[in-house]
Amino acid sequence: MSEEKLGNYEIIDHEYDVVVVGAGGAGLRAGFGCAEKGLNTAILSKVFPTRSHTVAAQGGISAALGNMGEDDWRFHMYDTIKGSDWLGDQDAIEYMCREAIPAIYELEHYGVPFSRTAAGKIYQRAFGGMTTHYGEGTAQRTCAAADRTGHAILHTLYQQALKHKAQFFIEYFALDLIMDENGSCVGVMALNMDDGKIHRFRAHQTILATGGYGRAYFSCTSAHTCTGDGGGMVARAGLPLQDMEFTQFHPTGIYGAGCLITEGVRGEGGYLTNSEGERFMERYAPSAKDLASRDVVSRSMTIEIREGRGVGENKDHIHLNLMHLDPAIIHSRLPGIAESARIFAGVDVTKEPIPVLPTVHYNMGGIPTNFRTEVVRPTKKDPNAVVPGLMAIGEAACVSVHGANRLGSNSLLDLVVFGRAAAIRAAETVSPNMPHKSLKDGHDGGAAIERLDRYRNTDGDMSTSDLRLEMQRTMQDHAAVFRTGDVLEDGHQKIVGIFNKRENLKVKDRSLIFNTDLIETLELDNLLYQAVASLASAVNREESRGAHAREDYTERDDDKWMKHTICSVDEKGATTIEYRPVIMTTLTDEVEAVPPKARVY
Ligand code: FUM
Repeated sequence: MSEEKLGNYEIIDHEYDVVVVGAGGAGLRAGFGCAEKGLNTAILSKVFPTRSHTVAAQGGISAALGNMGEDDWRFHMYDTIKGSDWLGDQDAIEYMCREAIPAIYELEHYGVPFSRTAAGKIYQRAFGGMTTHYGEGTAQRTCAAADRTGHAILHTLYQQALKHKAQFFIEYFALDLIMDENGSCVGVMALNMDDGKIHRFRAHQTILATGGYGRAYFSCTSAHTCTGDGGGMVARAGLPLQDMEFTQFHPTGIYGAGCLITEGVRGEGGYLTNSEGERFMERYAPSAKDLASRDVVSRSMTIEIREGRGVGENKDHIHLNLMHLDPAIIHSRLPGIAESARIFAGVDVTKEPIPVLPTVHYNMGGIPTNFRTEVVRPTKKDPNAVVPGLMAIGEAACVSVHGANRLGSNSLLDLVVFGRAAAIRAAETVSPNMPHKSLKDGHDGGAAIERLDRYRNTDGDMSTSDLRLEMQRTMQDHAAVFRTGDVLEDGHQKIVGIFNKRENLKVKDRSLIFNTDLIETLELDNLLYQAVASLASAVNREESRGAHAREDYTERDDDKWMKHTICSVDEKGATTIEYRPVIMTTLTDEVEAVPPKARVY
């Protein structure tokens, strides 16, 4: 550690083999994996690690263990490809579904307190889109720790990180990447929010595990901290984002509050009804019914409401019923949602249905990577060209294993499988204590300081919270469950206008010490890059696929659109859009690629 000056700021310098930004499930798994392999590893987190959003994951983590009946990782792979509406990269999906099984046993050995069957095996519940025999039966594939699986996993991974002596920098806010003159990432700049000091972290691999950008929307299940900080840093480094038009609406957010009610409720036998008391999912998905994939259920609910069959005074939501379930099941497997329903909806789930509404839950798009978690910057010559020194994992990344729609419980899996993959790749590319090259002028973190200084001293006439609300309402109105070209185009123009209003913000206080208004402004900047990329990408994609449901282009069009959107955003909000082929080949010959076909449930 040493100190020098950059502009008017004292900088505290650190040198590590690997720096991980974010300490949720993905960041912790990657971080202690690197430390375990002898790499000198720092983990930066803007919140205390066990407050990361992984803690809120409820229903479970998928793996074809076959504890509750027949299962096979190839069935899981097939379901994930179908769930992705054939936008997922099949090499990465093969890797994830095969690695799922050892990943769960590894978690079990680390100490995750999974729920158990009577025979003492890990309990698994049904989740949407999970089948056996390539779409025939229903798979019980989602391993659960009651309805607090994320909490159990996050705490266990944090303990592993402490055990392996990863070095934590807690309440450090990452400002920007340090890119060298050749386009390699050589570290990250960060602000210690506690004392206002600026730190420069040099690293041979910087691993972004910063989560999604759900807070770009008005109503979401995401924590207030889900501001896509990695995506913002990547965009400002001139690197593109991938498939940003695909935002998942979870069917069962609590009406009015947005809090998650796990899909595990339907996995345990709960079902949705409209104002006529009809189990309407039987009409939309005759086979899977309430356990169709999330995009299908969210669209069906929206149609019911639009056609006047919503419940409540304003007929603007749907009922989720679990009154018929044995209270002992609710007590043992769904205690958390019973509590949430009581607190946020005033409902006793043993007596009344829960009022629910599709709510923004997950970003399928993000920082493009390969299955080794290396960040990809496609070029004309090589659509899979890698950015040296930069990796991304978890919801921040787009590997792409979720394609156009993620299956429930594949997200916790993505975190641990690709967190581990990042550690493996880091150990292949970095030797412990390799020397760091000296930084050149213009590539030394100075740009991050200038940006910080600009926002800190900004003296416009608009508050950060007002501008954030404008962005959130625009995203909610213009990038919803159903989309049309006009609404998207209008939304795109509005969001670029909002993006440029950030020049006119007024940050209340210039202090660098625990200045929440300044931090929220930096977070808003990150969100805005991703909001612009989402709308620009959505305008361009003239088809319906997974979560991107266009009313003016109602069909999936594989000839024209089976490709990833690659979107760059400049500092004025102007976008450049290119496309990159979907990987339709497998990694090994143990399984065949799944050719596209109609997606029915
Ligand atoms: O419904 C849920 O428990 C959410 C799970 C997920 O998004 O994977």
